[in-house]
Amino acid sequence: MQTQHLNMAAVDNHSAELLVILVPAGQTGFPSQAYPACLETLIEHYKKMGDWHSESKYLLCINPPEFKASRILLVDTNMDIVKADAKRISNVVSDVLEQLNKAKAEIIMPPWLQGGELLIQALFHASYKFSDYKTKTSRREEISVTLLVSDDSLDESLDYARALHNGMSRTRDLANMPGNLCTPGYFAECALALDEQFATISTDVLDEAQLTELGMGAYLAVGRGSVHPGCMPVIRYVGAEPEEPAIWVIGKGITFDSGGITLKKPPGMQSMIYDMCGGASVIGLMAAVAELKLPVNVTGVIATAENMPDGDAFRPGDILTTMSGQTVEIISTDAEGRLVLCDAITYAKQHQPALIIDVATLTGAQIVSLGSHASGLMGNSPQLNQALQQAGDESGDRAWTMPVWPDYQDALDSPFADMRNAGSQSPGMITAGCYLARFAGNTPWAHLDIAGTSFQYGTGNSATGRPLPLLLQFLRNYSNLTAPQWSINTDARGFLP
Ligand code: BES
Ligand code: MN
Ligand code: ZN
Repeated sequence: MQTQHLNMAAVDNHSAELLVILVPAGQTGFPSQAYPACLETLIEHYKKMGDWHSESKYLLCINPPEFKASRILLVDTNMDIVKADAKRISNVVSDVLEQLNKAKAEIIMPPWLQGGELLIQALFHASYKFSDYKTKTSRREEISVTLLVSDDSLDESLDYARALHNGMSRTRDLANMPGNLCTPGYFAECALALDEQFATISTDVLDEAQLTELGMGAYLAVGRGSVHPGCMPVIRYVGAEPEEPAIWVIGKGITFDSGGITLKKPPGMQSMIYDMCGGASVIGLMAAVAELKLPVNVTGVIATAENMPDGDAFRPGDILTTMSGQTVEIISTDAEGRLVLCDAITYAKQHQPALIIDVATLTGAQIVSLGSHASGLMGNSPQLNQALQQAGDESGDRAWTMPVWPDYQDALDSPFADMRNAGSQSPGMITAGCYLARFAGNTPWAHLDIAGTSFQYGTGNSATGRPLPLLLQFLRNYSNLTAPQWSINTDARGFLP
């Protein structure tokens, strides 16, 4: 997507194959004097003809008189364009793209548009197509979009949107890869590729021997049934003073979740190639942060393994010792995400993080509770919860805070070990959050359950690139804070001393 400067008063003199003009709903004229009068005359003309009325969504005007453009697509935005919200904007954008056919479209960005940044993001987003495994190209790939802008005021938004889009595309390409191609070893290659691409990034891949040395008994148990050896890529981005504490972002990267010995049923099983969306988000986020050169330090960790049944697989009833020293009785080998995450969190805690955020397709219960509209957000710091939820609102990539009260912790009581890895008849999303809280302890930490938001479960089955908009917005806000304070709510802390 390119941009081009255009004097809005000379829109009529602009030659274009297809000029897209966003018309605010119910508006008789434009809320600006910037356009030439003939544009308003054109709209009035079609209104009189009855072609443009209150229920019109689009109108394609061919060879409009007084305009150099050979076609003009009027789009009713069905919104107050001054206060446009993200969801409406992306609906408009997908509608617009639906109307284009092999077009070289030029979209006017009205100078008064408040949601310009989100509109740009939505345009980038809609241009994504996962076609690595298709041999024919699609109509969508033949569309080129140019944004017509009146000044430089959208430049920063464009850079941001481009970096976000590049990161999200990387996340989606990776997340859409099936389990036979995207293995833990492949994750390691992606993490090392970031190190190659950006001078500000350095990557270490911890192998199984190193994870054993660190005492990651829970992490390693999950991958034991797989022929693909596990590993833990750690990706460091330094954008601030090197000694400044980093924000650690840990992604669940289960490259395929069969459930293990607690085997899943067939209909849902094939979508478990998406059980690495959290890890894929970390890869995309690190790329976006490095592209934007954000003045923060961020360390990304991919907690990756494949969860398979096998003679050597871990089993229900097993008791595992985590890196924190706490022991876990396995109720279900299908509650594997929290097992890799808890050791990764303990590892992060030992490196003086500013705070920890984990991102995981952790529970089916998240889909039942919040669906695809909001990720489940849990954490031990009210300010951190609030900052993340706000970043979600601002970016149109919502999250909703769920409680992790001690009352919910009881579901994890075990007669044999310090805890068990799953409750029975308990609210599954919160129980999983409570489990992780026991490992975060007193370190500011938040957990995003993205089971329903990161891919289209049961429908399109394709990755969305979420929660990158939320995470990048959070880091952008964070880089503008002077002395962030994250107090710990001891009620939400779990039982770690
Ligand atoms: N990866 C799944 C959760 C999931 C389900 C993500 C559907 C996306 C779509 C996770 O590992 C899992 O199996 N969770 C169990 C936990 C239970 C055994 C406590 C679940 O949600 O059923
Ligand atoms: Mn599982
Ligand atoms: Zn899983």
